[in-house]
Amino acid sequence: MTGPLTTDRLSLRPIRAGDWPELCGLDGDLDVMATLGGLRSEKETVGYAMAQEDHWRRHGFGWWMAHDLETGAFVGRGGIRYLEIDGVMEVEVGYAVVRERWGRGFATEIARAGVELAYDGVGLTRVVGITLVTNGASRRVLDKLDFAYERDLTHAGLPHVLYAWEARAP
Ligand SMILES: CC(C)(COP(=O)(O)OP(=O)(O)OC[C@H]1O[C@@H](n2cnc3c(N)ncnc32)[C@H](O)[C@@H]1OP(=O)(O)O)[C@@H](O)C(=O)NCCC(=O)NCCS
Repeated sequence: MTGPLTTDRLSLRPIRAGDWPELCGLDGDLDVMATLGGLRSEKETVGYAMAQEDHWRRHGFGWWMAHDLETGAFVGRGGIRYLEIDGVMEVEVGYAVVRERWGRGFATEIARAGVELAYDGVGLTRVVGITLVTNGASRRVLDKLDFAYERDLTHAGLPHVLYAWEARAP
């Protein structure tokens, strides 16, 4: 299993089931969850945290809790995980950041670490990102990391776009 790591401003470590109280802050913020299927109840966040821990146990990678390296404050979550899209199993990069820290590059920092983990740590040569068509900030994060738009799709009953990052031949 890939362990904890640090980026310029963040410490990243695998989500554990016991992280649910900290995650409830994100899951209960409508600004954050409006683009992620809506608010989650406490029970749903508990289930989410358990599922993330299980993903790490089964696959050796997954989503991290991200904390400010200097202060230890919770900044967000993200990383890579398996996701079935239109019947195809893909590895998806995902990210969510606490509202007060938006616009400071933290999602990009988390997602970049996810792509690096996928390529250098797991040996994957393709990672996808899916987001609501209207989620301009999320699309911009994918653009900044050289993901290319592939297609429109319907996910969870809503119009999404799929972007993909593929390792180039050396
Ligand atoms: C999407 C989200 C993760 C972005 O987090 P962030 O830390 O603010 O992202 P970054 O600062 O790394 O990058 C955001 C970029 O989008 C740009 N941006 C912000 N709002 C935008 C909009 N409406 N349209 C286009 N670009 C936008 C920012 O200017 C920035 O680009 P820049 O660095 O070139 O200036 C954050 O808004 C969030 O947590 N949203 C709710 C959860 C979510 O939607 N997650 C993604 C699901 S796929």
